[in-house]
Amino acid sequence: MKILVLGGAGYIGSHTVRELIKSGSQVVIVDNLETGYKEAVHPDAAFYQGDIRDRAFMDHVFQKESIDGVIHFAANSLVGESMTNPLKYYDNNLYGTKVLLDSMVANHIDKIVFSSTAATYGEPERIPILETDPTEPTNPYGETKLSMEKMMKWTNQAYGVRYVALRYFNACGADASGNIGEAHSPETHLIPLILQVPNGQRDKISIYGEDYDTKDGTCVRDYIHVTDLAQAHILAMKYLMDGKESAIFNLGNGVGFTVKEVIETARKVTNHPIPAEVVSRRSGDPAKLIASSEKAKKILGWNPEHADLEEIIESAWNWHRNHPHGYKNI
Ligand code: UFG
Repeated sequence: MKILVLGGAGYIGSHTVRELIKSGSQVVIVDNLETGYKEAVHPDAAFYQGDIRDRAFMDHVFQKESIDGVIHFAANSLVGESMTNPLKYYDNNLYGTKVLLDSMVANHIDKIVFSSTAATYGEPERIPILETDPTEPTNPYGETKLSMEKMMKWTNQAYGVRYVALRYFNACGADASGNIGEAHSPETHLIPLILQVPNGQRDKISIYGEDYDTKDGTCVRDYIHVTDLAQAHILAMKYLMDGKESAIFNLGNGVGFTVKEVIETARKVTNHPIPAEVVSRRSGDPAKLIASSEKAKKILGWNPEHADLEEIIESAWNWHRNHPHGYKNI
């Protein structure tokens, strides 16, 4: 089986490539290296540097390689940036997916698994969140991901391209080898920012608000290990290969941790005091996001293996401690 991974040099993409190769698949990676890293490209994968918005380039890849299915991670994913630069998100996430689908239809590729997000729900009406719950994104990032899902739905109906949309909750952690991990620039995610303190790159961590309606007043999130996410993509591709219908799945552990609990766990794992300071809320942050992933468990047979928060933070620490500047100066 030969799988094309778009965005295979990025955080979740590089972990999925690794698991695909371990499971015996052949992998072709496309990445424009705008937010991905050449060092994260798996040595056993074929690599094409280019942009999904470039139709001729995408046609070239599909004509050169005989691809059985596509896994699509090539998107921008920063909520804050999407608020100040929404058209960047419409261009890369939505227009990019449109060009990709044009090229897939023209080249008779009819299966795609792609990254969606908990941000499609906006402020949830109930916890845990089900796939059938209302989708009211509160930022352009979530809006473009929801629009991608809709584009897939109509493309499926018109041209028979089947899809699986995976709505991730909070992706975190790193591969057990310690060779690949999270490396965003600028970094905005909680766990890598916390770990910058014991790494000597930051004096303290800011807690964005402690007046939420949660057990300690700080936001609750569902943290899911990146290797478990990677496994879900492989299962989703198998599901499509088995001829099953397009579907949407949440991916989370179904357990929520507050920001303070995450910091406390990081203190334990790193054995460092990690000073924290409460600052004002970050706009657009829902109080609580916890997934129901029962559908993925039942239909895909997905079973997250690294659900323990301490283990998740340990794996992230193993990566960040040994790569304080990410892939730079490797
Ligand atoms: N937080 C802090 N201090 C920080 C950074 C984050 O208190 O320095 C808090 C945030 O307010 C939030 C929690 O930690 O309550 C997690 O924040 P992240 O930025 O790590 O993650 P988000 O929950 O904001 O975002 C994640 C994904 C997005 C996705 C979103 C869905 O990273 O891609 O979930 O809402 F869109």
